Amino acid sequence: MAPSLLSADFAALGREIERVAPEADWLHLDVMDGHFVPNLTIGPPVVAAIRRRSELYLDCHLMMTNPGDYLEAFRRAGADSCTVHVEVGGTSELLDALRECQLGVGLALNPETPFEAVDPWLERIDLLLVMTVRPGFGGQSFMAEVLPKIEAASRAIAERRLPVVVEVDGGIDATTAGRVAAAGARMLVAGSAIFGADDPAAAAAAIRRAADREAA
Ligand code: DX5
Ligand code: ZN
Repeated sequence: MAPSLLSADFAALGREIERVAPEADWLHLDVMDGHFVPNLTIGPPVVAAIRRRSELYLDCHLMMTNPGDYLEAFRRAGADSCTVHVEVGGTSELLDALRECQLGVGLALNPETPFEAVDPWLERIDLLLVMTVRPGFGGQSFMAEVLPKIEAASRAIAERRLPVVVEVDGGIDATTAGRVAAAGARMLVAGSAIFGADDPAAAAAAIRRAADREAA
């Protein structure tokens, strides 16, 4: 489970993290630049503040057109991994730069982007982030048409015996969790389903249980 803080109370992030920490493997931090997506969220100073409050693995999802200019800053802020989008281009250089910064190397793809766009990079990444909504906003509906792509990616990763984690992001709740887990996803991001609940840790635990039941 990777709770997304996008749906948390930004004025009380420390408390929100404490509430979800017992059921969080990673914290998912959504960085939006107002260009790649029509929304603005957080940057390195907020990541640094979160780092001071938590020892959890910080999984930074960079929805930015120029992530390469900021990798060093995210590393210094205490990020553990950064995920860049394949749609922004320059993927080879970005993956090299992530390794050089000693960050976990993530590659994301939008719902419309075919698996073939990331296939050539699987040997060079740690994390494949399959978007199950269009990036930019929390609280959208899960796009079931992405399930075959999750299956194709998971199959390719297993066949090539690669140590790549398949993560899904968008519209994940206790109902959709089983479907993505059955398709091969092993790290589930959820924002509104967790922080919109009265008890975020209980909501995360319910999503995890639903996924565990279906994980092959
Ligand atoms: C959307 C973000 C997601 C978002 C998910 O662009 O990448 O991480 O927080 O939110 P929910 O779980 O509400 O779909
Ligand atoms: Zn995200």
